[in-house]
Amino acid sequence: MKESHQRLLRNNHIWSEKKQEEDADYFKKLSQGQSPEYLWIGCSDSRVPANEVTLTHPGEIFVHRNIANVVIQTDMNLLSVLYFAVDILHVEHVIVCGHYGCGGVSAAMQHEDLGFVNNWLRSIKEVYASHKMELEAIMDLDKRERRLVEWNVIEQTNNLAKTRIVQRAWKNGSLQLHPWVFDCSNGLITELGNKITSLADVEPIFRYRL
Ligand code: CO
Repeated sequence: MKESHQRLLRNNHIWSEKKQEEDADYFKKLSQGQSPEYLWIGCSDSRVPANEVTLTHPGEIFVHRNIANVVIQTDMNLLSVLYFAVDILHVEHVIVCGHYGCGGVSAAMQHEDLGFVNNWLRSIKEVYASHKMELEAIMDLDKRERRLVEWNVIEQTNNLAKTRIVQRAWKNGSLQLHPWVFDCSNGLITELGNKITSLADVEPIFRYRL
């Protein structure tokens, strides 16, 4: 009996052959390097694959995903990805894409002890605390959670703007930060408020003299 993971390997062969049928040089070009214009910071949730929901191809989006698309300044993984995307690949856009129905955000609204995961969800609780007045005025809990998903995306995008990686990129050129949310119920992405494009969009205390 074949295991289900073998389906993935079979599919991979089919995909590889299809790509070569479409363009005999496809993998020759793909192996020459990448120059993506976008960094996508999304949730690990299996329903929100960056390339598929944006109809983009291998090579177009540099991707970092974690639970609930959070941007924590001590996360070496995120900082390394951000540094590589901005300083080396010179991406022009960084997108933080959250999604409604996010398990991480939902868990952060509860009081269960989730062991070490408490630490990861802490930053979402901080977002909740910062917007408690607005959130707790929303009586419908689903709607309140949806709003927290949105605030989480906005605040994590703000966190990107507080890094010296992003502020240095602004000094030397341009970089746009975009807060987006994906809706699993219709597959659509919505832009949340304004993109962040310069130091002027950053709370003054977080601005560095670079
Ligand atoms: Co999620």
